[in-house]
Amino acid sequence: MEIFTTKIALKAHLSAFSSKDKTIGFVPTMGALHEGHLTLIEHSKRATDITVCSIFVNPTQFNDPADLEKYPRPIEKDVALLQSVNCDVLFLPTVEEMYPPNDEPWFFDLGRLDKIWEGAKRPGHYQGVTQVVYKLFDIVKPSIAFFGQKDFQQCMVIQYMVDKLHLPLRLQMVDTVRDADGLAKSSRNVRLSSNGRKQALSLSKALFMIKQAFEKGTGPLQAKEEALSFLDKVEGVELEYFAICNPSDLSEIDRKQQDLRPLVVILAAWVDGVRLIDNIVLK
Ligand code: PAJ
Repeated sequence: MEIFTTKIALKAHLSAFSSKDKTIGFVPTMGALHEGHLTLIEHSKRATDITVCSIFVNPTQFNDPADLEKYPRPIEKDVALLQSVNCDVLFLPTVEEMYPPNDEPWFFDLGRLDKIWEGAKRPGHYQGVTQVVYKLFDIVKPSIAFFGQKDFQQCMVIQYMVDKLHLPLRLQMVDTVRDADGLAKSSRNVRLSSNGRKQALSLSKALFMIKQAFEKGTGPLQAKEEALSFLDKVEGVELEYFAICNPSDLSEIDRKQQDLRPLVVILAAWVDGVRLIDNIVLK
């Protein structure tokens, strides 16, 4: 695996591939890699000629400075994991490389997506995400970029940017990878105590409860009420939102829209001082 820390060196390396009509797959990450990230790399390896992963803890998307400070950065372990899945190229820029001192902040109007759910709870978060992802797309010029369903709203935000700006690339959403017990893999899970981890497990349990009830014919809103009363009894879980939505615009469904298919159940919660998100699609 080749490692680049500057835009200019990475662009020079990649231009040799794109001029030969080779396809470039791209997996942007913030590191502290786990199986979720590695699955994205594997999808890219299968679908494209060369796979580029970036690791950059992007300061502009952290609305909470303490979260940025505490974000894990196990870079040597990350490099070894990327080598284990034969990632071709790693881009590892510094903050100054991505945001030079003379750089003007760039704002992109994300419309409603910036004002609901994660957008509402984390003001400025998606501005930071689109700022950095736009810059990374511009440097890497991928044919396909891979994102996880774990961050469902983020996938929608990036797709919105790609569509609005007519960026010449395709996005591929990859299913959420979970631990054997159901907990969605997340770089933030390492910050959970063993008790916190048990409490966090109730989130995926609630999502699976809804899916099961739904598949047995219970109406989606009734299934949600049952899952909510289960979560109410779990100590240490503080829900920020928990909603059943139309996946095309993330609007919450009401009683009259219960026949809509597919649906997506989204949630965010604080457990053990860690903010976690998860979702499940009902087909
Ligand atoms: P990060 O949280 O490191 O996630 C990088 C990619 O891995 C995202 O597309 C995310 O959805 C995906 N991912 C995380 N956990 C996953 C899981 N359990 N299963 C499948 N995919 C998973 O998301 C970001 O970084 C940043 O916002 C970024 C896009 C890199 C911009 O800074």
